[in-house]
Amino acid sequence: MEVHTLRLGDTQIINNLFLAPMAGFTDYAFRSVILPLGAGLSFTELTSAKGLYFGAKNNYAILRTDDHEKTAAQIFGSEPYFMRWAVESEYLKDYKIVDINMGCPVPKIVKNGEGSALLADIKLAESIIKECVKSGKIITVKIRTGIKTGDDIAAEFAKMAEGAGASLITIHGRVRENYYSGEPDYNAIYRAKRSVHIPVIANGGIFNVRDADDMVERTGADGVMIARGAIADPFIFSEISGDKISGNIKTVKDFAIAHLRKEAEISGDARAAIEFRKFVTYYFKSVENAKQKRAELMLSESAVKTEELLNKYL
Ligand SMILES: Cc1cc2nc3c(=O)[nH]c(=O)nc-3n(C[C@H](O)[C@H](O)[C@H](O)COP(=O)(O)O)c2cc1C
Repeated sequence: MEVHTLRLGDTQIINNLFLAPMAGFTDYAFRSVILPLGAGLSFTELTSAKGLYFGAKNNYAILRTDDHEKTAAQIFGSEPYFMRWAVESEYLKDYKIVDINMGCPVPKIVKNGEGSALLADIKLAESIIKECVKSGKIITVKIRTGIKTGDDIAAEFAKMAEGAGASLITIHGRVRENYYSGEPDYNAIYRAKRSVHIPVIANGGIFNVRDADDMVERTGADGVMIARGAIADPFIFSEISGDKISGNIKTVKDFAIAHLRKEAEISGDARAAIEFRKFVTYYFKSVENAKQKRAELMLSESAVKTEELLNKYL
């Protein structure tokens, strides 16, 4: 695929390879270590607009970043008032780009009419975007192709989002009922791309350079967003762009250790060992006889011990 810059309003994104938001994974520690490896833009984990309004404490951690050039905040909610309030709030003051989540399939979010529930209410989705755009910030939207198999709302939604003032739309090429599995619906993304002038970013099932090439070839999208593929291979962005990475992180082992150390710096030794556990399967994907080794890491209660094990096994 062709790697190029993207312009959103007065902001230039250095390339069209995006790191997806992933709750529980793409936190401040992970983003800090992966961003220098070549993604053009990343996103915070989804953050409740209403939660911000009512002062929920965990949002400080979710919105923490030291790279506002390459990080957008992602918010979710169903009430235009709270959504705009969040975009204009102190919490988001340093973020130039705010993404609205209209794709989350998690039942507790959907049942509140938030996330992918908005795919079934295009009028409300439009009001939310319009209200957030009034903030003057760059507003982007992330959707899925529908709710049930066979749905294709992407083109209609993309047109609506463009008309409402969104600067970019990301389309996860799967319907809600398929969560994260199955081949992406390339045609739905293709049709959406042909319907609008704002950039369309394609997401879903990109785990290597070939998948990225395939996605862009089949959809005509302006760029790609990668989620699980970036945890499994943090070098995927530079592999796609062909850019040489500067710095000391050259292997998955280097990456895993840098990530663990960053997590320990932020959360302390014991918490870091626990937070790190969910990444172990990804980092050990190419290790032989990994089961026993992974099990040892899962039992580690200290980042120092975890690092010893990473040095031994990776
Ligand atoms: C554990 C996990 C957490 C996720 N959290 C978010 C989130 O906070 N916001 C969002 O828009 N999408 C979220 N997603 C969806 C991803 O951003 C992405 O759309 C999806 O995983 C498909 O991309 P992939 O096939 O490259 O993994 C999450 C996905 C996973 C697996």
